[in-house]
Parts: sequence; C-alpha cells; structure tokens
Amino acid sequence: MSTDRSAPHATRTREDGAPAEFNPYSDVFFDDPYATYRWMRDEAPVYYSERWDFYALTRHEDVVAAHRDWETFSSAYGVTLDALSMRHRFSTNMLIIMDPPEHERLRKLVRQVFTKAAIANLEPLVVDVVTSYIDALTDRQSFDVVADFAALFPVEIISSMLGVPSGERQQIRLWTDGFLHREENNPFATESGVADSVTMGEYFLELAREKRRNPDDLIISRLVTATYEDEAGVTHRLSDDDIATFAVLLAAAGSETVTKLVGNGVMAFHRNPDQWELVLADPTLIPGAIEEMLRLNPPSQYQGRFATRDVALDGGTIPAGSPTLLVTGAATRDPRAYQRPDAFDIRRGGATTLAFGYGVHSCLGSWLARLESRVAFQHLQQHWPRFEVDTDGLRRVTMSNVAGYSHIPVHVG
Ligand code: HEM
Repeated sequence: MSTDRSAPHATRTREDGAPAEFNPYSDVFFDDPYATYRWMRDEAPVYYSERWDFYALTRHEDVVAAHRDWETFSSAYGVTLDALSMRHRFSTNMLIIMDPPEHERLRKLVRQVFTKAAIANLEPLVVDVVTSYIDALTDRQSFDVVADFAALFPVEIISSMLGVPSGERQQIRLWTDGFLHREENNPFATESGVADSVTMGEYFLELAREKRRNPDDLIISRLVTATYEDEAGVTHRLSDDDIATFAVLLAAAGSETVTKLVGNGVMAFHRNPDQWELVLADPTLIPGAIEEMLRLNPPSQYQGRFATRDVALDGGTIPAGSPTLLVTGAATRDPRAYQRPDAFDIRRGGATTLAFGYGVHSCLGSWLARLESRVAFQHLQQHWPRFEVDTDGLRRVTMSNVAGYSHIPVHVG
C-alpha cells in the first residue's frame, strides 16, 4: 500500500470520462456519489480501492447477502475504514463493533429499553421538542433548516431520553460532530475529534455512576437495573462502563442520522416540487415519503465489515482479511432491485430495506427515527408550505459513513 494517500491513484477512467474511483474521503463522494455508484454496480461490482486498500459491494443482492452472513463479514474489526485498516479484532462492549454471540447477548439487554411500543409512548416528547424549535422560527423570513432546526432537535430528544440534564444536550452533538468529521483524503478523525470522543465517553461514564446513585426512570437508569438470563441460566447485567459505551453509541447514532435524513428530505422536495404538492394535499403521505427519502439518500451511506475468508462473487473475489464496505447508498438505487431507482416517488410503497442496516445489526432506533422525522415534516409542511432553498448557501458535512447537509438556507417569507 502506498503511504501517500493524496496521490492520484485513479488512473482508469469511466465511460463518461470521470475517474474510475470510489474515494469516500473526497468532495466527489460527498457532493454526489451516484454516478460513481452506477459505474461500480455495472462495471466493478466487487470494487477494489488501491488508494485505501478496501473492497466495496454495491449491488443490492450482494449487500443484503453480506449483511446476512455476519460470520464472513464481521463487525468486530470496526465498521469505519480507519478502524478496519488496523486489521485488528476488537474486544469491546460497543454493540455495533461486536459479532454474535456476544453481540446477541448485549443486544438482548439493551433492546429492552428500545421496543417499538416504548418508542410509541414518546410521541408527546418528540412533538414538544420539535414544536419548541419550530416556534422559535415562526417570525423569521428566512432560516437554516439544518443549523436552526434539524441539527438541534434529534440530539435534544435522544439525550433527554437518556437523562442528560437540559443545558448539556447540545454539547453531545458538538462532540459527535467532532469525532465524525474527516478532512479530505484522511480516514482518521482529527486530533480534536479524538479528544471529543474521549471527553464524551468520560461524560457518560460519570452520568452512569450518577444515575446508579440517584436513579430516575430514563434510559440510563433503566439500563442500570436491566438483566438478561442466557440459555445456561446465567444472569447478565451491565457495568457502568457498558452503559456509558452504549450511551455514546445512542447519542451519536440517534442525533446525526436524523439530522441528515431531514436535510436530505427537504432537498428531495426542493428538487421535486410535485412531490411536495402531494404532501401538502395529503399529509398522510409523509411516512411513505420518509421511507423514500431513506432509500434515495441514506444518511448512513456505507457499513464497514471485515472479510474473514475469501469470498468469490459474480465480479471478483474478496480476499480474506480485507476491509469491505457494504455501500447502502448504491444498493438502494440498484435498478436490479428498484424500478426508476433515481426517482423520488413518495408513493412508491414498501419500507426501506437497507437504510437502517439489515440482519443482526439492524438499527435499534429505526422507530424513533421514523417518529421524529414524521413529526418534523408534519410541522414543516404545516408552517411553511412554501419554501425556497438558497442554493448558494448549501453546505455538506464531510464525515465518516454519514452523508448530508450542515446548511440548507431557506426563504419562507
Ligand atoms: C435516520 C436515522 C437513522 C439511520 C439512517 C440509522 C442507520 C443505522 C444503520 C445503517 C445501522 C447498522 C449499522 C451496521 O450494520 O454496522 C444502525 C445501527 C444502529 N442504530 Fe441507527 N440509524 C438511525 C437512527 C438511529 C437512532 C435514532 C438511534 C437511537 C436512538 C439509533 C441507534 C442505533 C444503534 C444502537 C445501532 C447498532 C445496532 C447493533 O449494532 O446491533 N439509530 N443504524
């Protein structure tokens, strides 16, 4: 592997003249990866990146099969390219970086606080939080849908569910932004990003200890008392460290992704005004529209895995020991799986297949994400049926695994 990762490795070109390269740390990727994905699905379904030494699967069928086969495509070596490049199996209590059976045991414990029924009771909290941010904007002629709204409410909701005191909740988002941020052509978090992740871990460890001393009825306190008996009759409980690690995952996974979903959705409506008219005429179409936003622009564009054996596929072989990206954003636009895959059609029907992951690691927060984004779009269409995006002010994040906007200025006056 070369050490100069910024050197131009893409010597091949596609038919349209663009470089035949998938570089998840490039502006091309963040701005619009879909032409690259098309080329990969058609010409390089088992893609190899010389620059970063990883393989990538882009066809829907291959991505689903890889998610199903967790023994071959392990999560225990990390799910981001920086971690995977170490080729080291982690011994961790971070749910998303574990394989069964350890993963299954921990998931059974933590999912007790995350059932669909438990989430359904949260609607009043979600409505309260969303309304408070909407109310703060109602007199404005223009505002930023992300910076003034979509970035703020999801972290407020997940951290109040966890039991983070009000006043400290937005800090969680700033730490998360810090450790997910990536500079161009660098898969590793910045020095300050690493410091943010350490500080956030320490913060939640202290909070777990505090909740053990002074419990409330919120998630961290409920995890303190959660138990699970395995097949051998052994009872499992969570340590403070286990709880802190899970809280970090929930706070990060529960904030960034919903922010990106709402931003991507606003942009999809901006580009497809006929679909916005449909929503205005019939707001009950919103839940279906959210599934379609998730399919068209999944906030989590790829899931990292480590190939534990040689895998021969139609289009090539992934050698054992290879970091492998399962490219959700490409799979959900595969014409082999969807008709008119690039169209935003809110009446398409059916729930998203891959945007929330698939198989053993499928998203624990998908019901909460659906609830939050439904409430957000119900309020947006009610308050601002007419909006105009100031495209000059659009800004995207450059993050690991997550894609979307940091700024979408709109005029509503
Ligand atoms: C639109 C919003 C969201 C999207 C697109 C999303 C996407 C995903 C994806 C793709 C995975 C699978 C990761 C993998 O296979 O490696 C995942 C896992 C997970 N998500 Fe979400 N997520 C969202 C919202 C949330 C929320 C709101 C929460 C919690 C409050 C959450 C908590 C989790 C957790 C705990 C896991 C790990 C599950 C496991 O490893 O067993 N997510 N999510």
